[in-house]
Amino acid sequence: MGILEWATSPLGQRVPIHIAWFLIWVALIAGLAFLIVHAIYVRYLAKEKEFASDLPSPAAVELPARIPRHSLAARLFHWIMAAAMFVLLFTAFLPKVGIQFNWVTYHWIAGIVLTVSILFHIVHASFYLDFWSIWPDRSDLEDARKRFQRFLGKSASLPRKFAKYPLENKLYHGVVMLAGLLVIVTGICMMFRVRTGFLPRDPYLFSDMTWGMMYVLHGLAGVGLITLTIVHVYFAIRPEKLPITASMIVGSMSREFYLKEHDPSRWVIEGLPHRSADGD
Ligand code: HEM
Repeated sequence: MGILEWATSPLGQRVPIHIAWFLIWVALIAGLAFLIVHAIYVRYLAKEKEFASDLPSPAAVELPARIPRHSLAARLFHWIMAAAMFVLLFTAFLPKVGIQFNWVTYHWIAGIVLTVSILFHIVHASFYLDFWSIWPDRSDLEDARKRFQRFLGKSASLPRKFAKYPLENKLYHGVVMLAGLLVIVTGICMMFRVRTGFLPRDPYLFSDMTWGMMYVLHGLAGVGLITLTIVHVYFAIRPEKLPITASMIVGSMSREFYLKEHDPSRWVIEGLPHRSADGD
């Protein structure tokens, strides 16, 4: 049993046509297995998080009670993208597991909503947000090394508190970005295979082999997004992460939560005096 389904083209060539649909179940089970293992680890094995210098930063006394985290535009983007993502996942995969309905039109319309929201996000993040805040930096890697050594029971100094996003969030963003771009680029090409009413339908735009690879890449990134979405929703509803999830609705988090997990010199709140703890 392979992970792809194959067919013979009119030219007699053996071409892939799409992924084998059992991968939907693999992705679902992988997501559920991750959350079960993680929940058991946190409940029974993980130690309380410890950070270097738990002394309040000098800037902390001047902080407002609520710390702004996501602008209205960023929140609107997040929820529009999330709605499009759920519509895409359900319209794509329900018919494959036996729930039949006329899914293609809903699917590509949600695909366009996702594409436009991501284009907006790229411009917004590049010119109006702190673009580099979501990419891993040297401090993240040094702290990850320390955390790993301490996890193994070796001696290492305590890691620093996080900047705006912990390394795990940054890595998640990188993976979801790659999967998202892959479904978008292949999905836009695949719109030439279906009747949209505004794009010229042209099934001969690519060779059978290229079309097949396109459907395979679309499907692989798509099932990957099943696992990634389960993991994301799991973290969003974990009790200790609820303040972060709430900030995606109301836009801000409490000063206490901010000071517990974040280093004010690494995530500087606009309009406050900036004092660096380590001189960088
Ligand atoms: C979460 C994101 C997405 C997932 C999980 C997903 C999944 C899928 C799946 C499983 C198929 C069926 C492929 C096959 O039969 O081999 C499909 C088809 C398709 N998707 Fe997506 N997709 C996503 C995003 C998009 C986007 C962003 C677009 C457009 C911009 C798009 C447009 C299409 C089109 C046009 C088809 C072809 C329908 C056909 O040939 O009958 N998809 N998608």
